[in-house]
Amino acid sequence: MSIRDLDDLLGEGVSGRRVLVRADLNVPLDKQTGDITDDGRIRAVLPTLSALVQAGAKVVVCSHLGRPKGAPDPQFSLRPVAGRLGELLDAPVHFAEDTVGDSARSTVAELADGQVALLENLRFNKGETSKDDAERGAFADQLAALGDAYVDDAFGAVHRKHASVHDVPARLPHVAGRLVLREVEVLSKLTGAPERPYVVVLGGSKVSDKLAVIEALLPTVDRLLIGGGMCFTFLKAQGHEVGTSLLEEEMVETCRNLMERAPGKIMLPVDVVAADAFAPDAAHDTVPADGIPSHRLGLDIGPETVAGFAAVLSQAKTIFWNGPMGVFEMAAFADGTRGVAEAITKADAFSVVGGGDSAAAVRALGLDESSFGHISTGGGASLEYLEGKTLPGIAALEN
Ligand code: 3PG
Ligand code: MG
Repeated sequence: MSIRDLDDLLGEGVSGRRVLVRADLNVPLDKQTGDITDDGRIRAVLPTLSALVQAGAKVVVCSHLGRPKGAPDPQFSLRPVAGRLGELLDAPVHFAEDTVGDSARSTVAELADGQVALLENLRFNKGETSKDDAERGAFADQLAALGDAYVDDAFGAVHRKHASVHDVPARLPHVAGRLVLREVEVLSKLTGAPERPYVVVLGGSKVSDKLAVIEALLPTVDRLLIGGGMCFTFLKAQGHEVGTSLLEEEMVETCRNLMERAPGKIMLPVDVVAADAFAPDAAHDTVPADGIPSHRLGLDIGPETVAGFAAVLSQAKTIFWNGPMGVFEMAAFADGTRGVAEAITKADAFSVVGGGDSAAAVRALGLDESSFGHISTGGGASLEYLEGKTLPGIAALEN
């Protein structure tokens, strides 16, 4: 695999050149206030942006935020992100009111060397996510016209066959940014020859979302620890009743097959925190995993499970973790996620936290980020990488 990187581009000299950077600035926003609740993804792209600024490039940043439907939608504006990015860079960030229109063109034209612009949400344009090659291509043409070179630093979006990820690099000299390079380096250690025992912890709500990665990982991992909403479908497959817990009835048989295929590898909760309702103040108790009352739903793994998972993690040499163990956003159901996260930090192992919710959980729970080997910015992207899928954004950089 030969991918040119940011150093190659900097080596050519970028002073005065317009460098279009695809970033993943898809940060979580507070539903009420619209404030950025976790700026981890903005911080993650700073090394690439700072290097370009210092080298005198005209830096044109683009990103998606949320999933608007191909037209402008104020609740998904990147404007607040421009403000935060400016604070972190300690320099003004010029914000374009559109992505490829008059505002974008004039904002880019007015940039001085070493200045930064952020374009409005890519997904305000139908062409960005279109399945039609011509429609995507037409948008990619407009976007590519705003740069002289292209840097992909949007690791969280490399699994998307979108115009800014897949089609723009075909139109401009292209390189991988520092973040994309680091993410791929780290994840390739897990798909290569990980030091053993190699333990994977999976959580999150749906088995169906994680099925492909479970299938891919099962032959290679030593232990697979399962918590989060998805554990109830596995518990059901073991023959337990799960009350009103999250359940994917149509996946029960699949879960049974997975457990039969790798006897002893998959470890499930032995106790869970079961509540009357999905609410922060719901009445709740810790109950055995085979004794969930019929009117209650499991919202976290229990302390005995945490201890069991921690014992396995303490022996591990390589750990990958994706997905919270419970509803960590509610204090009453955060202990499972906290306990597992702490066990990972204590292990004498190379540990990778896979993206999205788990990365946000690490920061929301006030855990020390530096005690993990790597915190990925990509949830879906890191899972698809581990599945061994071809990632459109990486493939586009290869040629
Ligand atoms: C993410 O949050 O997973 C990435 O930013 C990709 O977003 P998407 O799942 O909406 O494509
Ligand atoms: Mg996602």
